[in-house]
Amino acid sequence: MSTTPLHGGAASGFRRMWHDLEALGLEGDSGGYHRFAWTREDHDLREWFAGECADRGLDLTTDRMGNQWAWWGDPDAAVAAGDPGVVIGSHLDSVPNGGAFDGPLGVVGALAAVDQLRHDGFAPARPVGIVNFADEEGARFGVACAGSRVITGALGADRARGLADNDGVTMAEAMRRAGRDPAALGRDDETLARIGAFVELHVEQGRLLVDLGHSVGVGSDIWPHGRWRVDVPGEANHAGTTALAEREDAMLGLAAMIIAARRAAETQGCVATVGKVQVLPGGVNAIASSATGWLDARGSDADAVLRVVTEVRDVVSDFDGLVTQESWTPTTDFDPALVRRIATRLDGLPVIGTGAGHDAGILANAGIRSAMLFVRNPTGVSHSPDEWASADDCLDGIAALADVVTDLAGAGA
Ligand code: GLV
Ligand code: MN
Ligand code: MN
Repeated sequence: MSTTPLHGGAASGFRRMWHDLEALGLEGDSGGYHRFAWTREDHDLREWFAGECADRGLDLTTDRMGNQWAWWGDPDAAVAAGDPGVVIGSHLDSVPNGGAFDGPLGVVGALAAVDQLRHDGFAPARPVGIVNFADEEGARFGVACAGSRVITGALGADRARGLADNDGVTMAEAMRRAGRDPAALGRDDETLARIGAFVELHVEQGRLLVDLGHSVGVGSDIWPHGRWRVDVPGEANHAGTTALAEREDAMLGLAAMIIAARRAAETQGCVATVGKVQVLPGGVNAIASSATGWLDARGSDADAVLRVVTEVRDVVSDFDGLVTQESWTPTTDFDPALVRRIATRLDGLPVIGTGAGHDAGILANAGIRSAMLFVRNPTGVSHSPDEWASADDCLDGIAALADVVTDLAGAGA
């Protein structure tokens, strides 16, 4: 990569911010993070973001969903002039026991990139925004990228407000407790109009960059993917006194569903995961009266992914089970001209696809010019405390991001 390396101030700023975040939302001594939307941890992360933006004199706004946007320059004057801004950033929430990089690298990286640009004396010809998207992982309410889906209208406000967490707390109630007005939720055209281009820096969640021998790559597309809730009914009864032949055991349907998903994924060339289940009444000595599993299915071919779901549906129907789609994101191609331009600017960095979902994909599907930069992850592990990238590679990614903003927000663009 030929991009100028980060200067000392931006690099040490990155290290300081990374250090600040290390303690926020740590889950015991597991090394992983629990940073769910609209919780105390999320509040602390949002306050941290607001503080960093204030320290840089950026103007912070929140949209109808509570996503945070910090602006260097006036985004509305740019809209009025027909030349909207360039936005960078990502999210700060996590999956259960998540890693440190998925999300925070893009937010911290965006702040450090602005430090680099200012150190270089860069004068943006159009505003530069930094976003912290709310609830990207959907870890609490089930729908991933809820922040970007609501403001683009991909997730309706009524449905979003009614989504409930494991304790039955709705998103509306959680937002109210966090000091937000859930009545405000909805498509936010004013916010969307301010985004001329969005570039999200992210840790790679695979090993393509390791194989290619590059610290940074440019994103081309996201696999189609979705989440389905599978409910299997049963009848609670005593584990010792109920004959096998007399049981209505919800667990059997759930087990059959999990095996069917795996087999169908193998035959269809997809991936399928059941990483969350809920069993009632949840007693060791009680037959399950209901069992719910959440299926996450993805692949390069949307029809093949949907065939996996059909096979699962067929299997659970034998157990009177019900499959309900909770979200679906079609194949997402990032803006081809923007991808080419970024790859060329960054001296021909590799262009790679991903099976992971991102807010950049939701914006792209809403017609907003979007792209991504990925930072090498030596093991490829993600959504786990083992997720990692070296500081040198992160700094390469931030330098690349600053270079891209110089190009996209510069006078010549
Ligand atoms: C988000 O990280 C997802 O791909 O599930
Ligand atoms: Mn993630
Ligand atoms: Mn992410």
